[in-house]
Amino acid sequence: MNYSNSYLKEVAAKKILYNEYEKSIAWQCPSNIALIKYWGKRGNQIPLNPSISFTLNESVTNTRVVYHYDQNRIKYQLEYYFEHKRNEKFENRISLYLESLQGYLPFINGLNLTIHSENSFPHSAGIASSASSFGALALCLVSIEEELTGAGESEKEFKNKASFLARLGSGSACRSIFGNLVEWGKSNFIADSSDEIAIQIINKNNNVFNDFQDIILIIDETGKPVSSSKGHALMIDNPYKRDRLRQAKSNLSRLLNSIDNNDLHSFTEIVENEALSLHALMLASNPGFFLIKQATIEVIERIRKFRQDTNIPVAFTLDAGANVHVLFPLSFINQVLPFVKSQLVQYCSHGKFIHDWIGEGPLKLM
Ligand code: DP6
Repeated sequence: MNYSNSYLKEVAAKKILYNEYEKSIAWQCPSNIALIKYWGKRGNQIPLNPSISFTLNESVTNTRVVYHYDQNRIKYQLEYYFEHKRNEKFENRISLYLESLQGYLPFINGLNLTIHSENSFPHSAGIASSASSFGALALCLVSIEEELTGAGESEKEFKNKASFLARLGSGSACRSIFGNLVEWGKSNFIADSSDEIAIQIINKNNNVFNDFQDIILIIDETGKPVSSSKGHALMIDNPYKRDRLRQAKSNLSRLLNSIDNNDLHSFTEIVENEALSLHALMLASNPGFFLIKQATIEVIERIRKFRQDTNIPVAFTLDAGANVHVLFPLSFINQVLPFVKSQLVQYCSHGKFIHDWIGEGPLKLM
């Protein structure tokens, strides 16, 4: 049985314990950076290919939901505050999201919700916040379900549910529910992998990948001209779609091997290949588009030259935008940070960058 059906079966068996109930709940959820990129989807947020990411530590969303449940309420009510200000654009998006979840969370219509959300990173930094914000909201919703039904889940089942619900808001958000190295999408290489929920990959070796650093260079602070959702949709008719699926599968298994073998050389090769392929797919879409800037290319060239000159294993990756993520093991921090400051910061908008690293995943707040 797929995850969605087992969720619905379980919902039918659960009862709300209260006629009226009032409480607030808060979660912190980190963003994540994909190493193997999710690009293209079908049906209800099902990825065309499996992906792998690092969960970040410092780039997080904190979300508090103040809720009042009344069994006689016939339609939920929602107020959404982003960074202390009512935000109607986000409110409309969240409202559509809640509508879409009614089958899984039948108590939704009984709720009056006031949601307060804020990010640790500047809103205009061009960092995709949908992963951390849908992650945080999904965790709050599963907590509310637990409160109202009195049914305590195991931690694993709680997170699986949150990952499932987060995915329905934004695909990459399902990976943010877990810490460290996370995979999403059915793959023959990972037992229990699923298109519906993400899964944490246990890094058996206590190796360099456990303390990876990510310096995010803020190259462009303006919004994206083409949203990720439009980009995903353009993959359906992309002439390289079949080859991309083959490439993603092969890169995924090779990346797992390089992590198992502590092989930074092949790790770098695969991660950079994924980043450049993602943007090549955008160029090859119809209509074609590009999100990188001149400065993105200059930075990439400098990173590659630095690696060649010093032999320090520093890799770059890109998300669906112009910003560059500089990835390297913690042991090289004293060489890489000065390099970033002396050679790369000049390409950043107002000299901005964020120093982040691999993190443990979401945190329940008081
Ligand atoms: C390039 O998860 O933002 O960052 O599912 O439409 O919300 P939606 O898309 P989103 O896409 C992320 C694309 C990516 C690659 C990745 O994170 O795997």
